[in-house]
Amino acid sequence: LLRSDIPEGLQRLPGPKPLPIIGNVLDVGANPHLSLTAMSERFGQVYQIQIGMRPVVVLNGSETIRQALIKQGEEFASRPDLYSFQFINNGKSLAFSSDQAGVWRTRRKLALNALRSFSTIKGSDLGYSCVLEEHVCKEGEYLVKQLSNVTEASGSFDPFRHIVVSVANVICGMCFGRRYNHDDQELLSFVNLSDEFGQVAGSGNPADFIPFLRFLPSRTMKTFMEINARFNAFVQKIVTEHYRTFDKNNIRDITDSLIDHCEDRKLDENSNVQVSDEKIVGIVNDLFGAGFDTISTALSWAVVYLVAYPEIQEKLHQEMKDSVGLERTPLLSDKANLPLLEAFILELFRHSSFLPFTIPHCTTKDTALNGYFIPKDTCVFINQWQVNHDPALWKDPSSFSPERFLNADGITVNKMDAEKVMIFGMGKRRCIGEAIGRTEVFLFLAILVQKLRFHELPGHPLDLTPEYGLTMKHKRCQLRASLRVQEQN
Ligand code: HEM
Repeated sequence: LLRSDIPEGLQRLPGPKPLPIIGNVLDVGANPHLSLTAMSERFGQVYQIQIGMRPVVVLNGSETIRQALIKQGEEFASRPDLYSFQFINNGKSLAFSSDQAGVWRTRRKLALNALRSFSTIKGSDLGYSCVLEEHVCKEGEYLVKQLSNVTEASGSFDPFRHIVVSVANVICGMCFGRRYNHDDQELLSFVNLSDEFGQVAGSGNPADFIPFLRFLPSRTMKTFMEINARFNAFVQKIVTEHYRTFDKNNIRDITDSLIDHCEDRKLDENSNVQVSDEKIVGIVNDLFGAGFDTISTALSWAVVYLVAYPEIQEKLHQEMKDSVGLERTPLLSDKANLPLLEAFILELFRHSSFLPFTIPHCTTKDTALNGYFIPKDTCVFINQWQVNHDPALWKDPSSFSPERFLNADGITVNKMDAEKVMIFGMGKRRCIGEAIGRTEVFLFLAILVQKLRFHELPGHPLDLTPEYGLTMKHKRCQLRASLRVQEQN
């Protein structure tokens, strides 16, 4: 922008000087969460970089992000039309596509309602408060057996590989009314490859901004396209089967409820926003996709932190033993009595910041933030990693210390500190699966901590350096798990 284009009273955005053609790609490098955080120390909380020829505004700092996403929410609510997004859910994703505001709003409301009703209804087993609790408790118990059996049979296991199937089964139960075996090759063919998905879809992928890069051979891009194709084919097969067996009087799951909505809408002549059937039933792709990768990444990190900090693992088990005992499966109603577990989860979210940036945003009109002018249609990165490691908010931010979230009494969680952690975004695009995400991470982890002890495999030291992506993963590793009951005998 020329200085003359900037409305009076506003300033031009600061930022590093871009190189011709590639812009600031080299400054951003392989770890944008670190480089863009370092830049915020130099240029302030709002600055501009250029990726290729395209300007990108980066927002840092809890208050600045709150101002943009909540107080000026409407102006920052859109998504940019990035190259990689057209392959996700065939370009019709609720989360990634640049749908018109009215269409996105209608789809988001439908998705929220479907998630809410199919996670909170009662299941077949009356011992559980809701079907989500029932699914997680059953899958959690199964995962415990699986991990201890694999340790016995093979000596070790890759935590992500097994956790992802259990987590996928919970969302599959709600979306499709079915679960899969831990060796199901069709499911494994995309859930186990989600690293490449995150590498391409993460903020700052140069190929999204520099067109000629799309023509260079890239193994990651090829895998990204393959994962999307397999994922879409997998969901499409299930959706077709649902249409074939659909019965209005027996809505079995979220897919059925979305099909039913399409049928009802055809009778409603007053509906003012036109959304195709494909875009309505396609919501299930987003729910399934977002519902397995995020939660399995969180749980896999959790297990790795337990191994890296064995004294914390023992304290968590002791808390479980004292508050719940070792006989029955922990439930959601136990949460208030497990403050250390809650603090551990908050610290896991903060320290790993495994979703370092939200999905990129885009401005819907010319706007201003902190006195800087930001034009319409500007791509905006929201730096959650910076908020979670900001020394102005956190004492010694790089140390892993769940106790930082406990009040002085040691038995209650400090709610103000808990709210400072930013991992689900905020405002209009805030994650719609937050409640489910928090519930699943809590319950799965409670079951694992109660039943298993995780160990490092001798000769295989852990590496906790995150690999950058939309969701950052730890390096694949091999661990061992022993059943606590067997240890006692
Ligand atoms: C969006 C985090 C679980 C569905 C997001 C965003 C983040 C996020 C950071 C982007 C917000 C933005 O762009 O400003 C997480 C984390 C999870 C989790 C950390 C688990 C620990 C889930 C689950 C579901 C889900 C379980 C569904 C079952 C979605 C959807 C969006 C979204 C549909 C797009 C919303 C929109 O664009 O309007 N999530 N998520 N998420 N999440 Fe989650």
